[in-house]
Amino acid sequence: MKELIIIKMKKIVINGGRPLKGEVTISGAKNSVVALIPATILADDIVTLDGVPDISDVASLIEIMTIMGAKIERKEDSLIIDPRGVKNMPMPFGKINSLRASYYFYGSLLGRYGQATVGLPGGCDLGPRPIDLHLKAFEAMGAAMTMDGSSMKLATDGKPLQGANIYMDTVSVGATINTILAAVKAEGRTVIENAAREPEIIDVVTLLNNMGAHIRGAGTDIIIIDGVPHLHGTRHQVIPDRIEAGTYIALAAAIGEGIQINNVLYEHLESYIAKLEEMGVRMTISEDSIFVEKQTDLKAIQIKTSPYPGFATDLQQPLTTLMTQAYGESKVVETIYIERFKHCGELQRMGANIEVSTGSASIKGPSSLFGTKVVATDLRCGAAMLVAGLLAEGITEIHDVYHIDRGYAEIDQKLKNLGAVIWRETIERLQRYNNIKEK
Ligand code: EPU
Repeated sequence: MKELIIIKMKKIVINGGRPLKGEVTISGAKNSVVALIPATILADDIVTLDGVPDISDVASLIEIMTIMGAKIERKEDSLIIDPRGVKNMPMPFGKINSLRASYYFYGSLLGRYGQATVGLPGGCDLGPRPIDLHLKAFEAMGAAMTMDGSSMKLATDGKPLQGANIYMDTVSVGATINTILAAVKAEGRTVIENAAREPEIIDVVTLLNNMGAHIRGAGTDIIIIDGVPHLHGTRHQVIPDRIEAGTYIALAAAIGEGIQINNVLYEHLESYIAKLEEMGVRMTISEDSIFVEKQTDLKAIQIKTSPYPGFATDLQQPLTTLMTQAYGESKVVETIYIERFKHCGELQRMGANIEVSTGSASIKGPSSLFGTKVVATDLRCGAAMLVAGLLAEGITEIHDVYHIDRGYAEIDQKLKNLGAVIWRETIERLQRYNNIKEK
């Protein structure tokens, strides 16, 4: 039977329209660390990760790994992970379904034990997010998939995983990393063609090679993995989060009066920075920081998302908010997730002039945004709402902020340090609840 229960949630409140200035330091990359943590399962000794962001996806992974038997200690921004006690137990429940990256447990458990039983991954609702390419790769290496209740079971018929030649029909970050995790201790050579080239893939491969793996080609579209029997412990520095950096650049261009963004690797943001320069955003780029100056006369641009080194889909949402301030008609064409436009509806309620069609959005600007109640429908929509709320006149309330907390470390404090007037309030919401005692 379904019952109604009251749940307590947080909302972010922003008193916007105030110029921001100062410095902000970017945290470690979410989309790296969510793969690095499951990758440590493959090691026979302790792995220390430095520069781990304080985000809820990391907390969820720590919870899952601890249930599995890992010992994990957090010391400031380092995670000391002892994976030696990890058991090959079914992981059907709890936090598994709350994040996308739980699919990396398929690859890492398969790589360590030749089998894995894990619940289905969750994550942001960006339309269909299949994992067929992951499964095809596991199958090519000798693991068959069956459903076990609400979990997926992957297992070989008792033989070790075998190296295989795998061609990815679509460029996929998750499928590339998952194939590497499964192949790293497999017998023989695995070749991945049409592999994704994102910096996060290089980061994961750097960790694995420092653990003793033999992987070549990360950062190109052909990755070659020669299986090794054992991987040892190591220490690894997580790369800076290019999407967090890109979000602060959009924010600084929208409302900054001079903002210095530290711990940024410009090379990871080249396509984004090129498009911002086309818009007229003035930036001074140094070795590991970017200074963004105040802007008044932004020009409309067109962007089309594509796999790295193309324009990142994760950055089109915060950039859409900046586009509402540009003169003329900007256009976003989304080729990775054609339904990733929920932020546009929220921006429209704040006064933006946006028309959404299948796979694209046209933004006419400039528009004066005003504060109102909006929803962070997914992580990067939340980022777009933060930029909009800081830009808008008056009070903006952002609901469902748990999406933002999945990927933006210490967001309130970082924005307060720049002069933002931002705080959180607790709200109560009625929600239907499945009484699990009922049959
Ligand atoms: N795809 C398939 N089959 C698969 C896998 C992917 O058809 O088996 C398709 C997807 O539907 C999509 C495209 O391939 O059209 C690329 O998806 P990809 O597999 O690269 O996405 P992902 O690995 O699930 C990661 C990031 C996303 C980011 C995408 C694209 C993580 C945990 N997530 O997702 O990050 O948008 O790559 O760059 O790394 C975010 O940070 O907000 C976020 C959603």
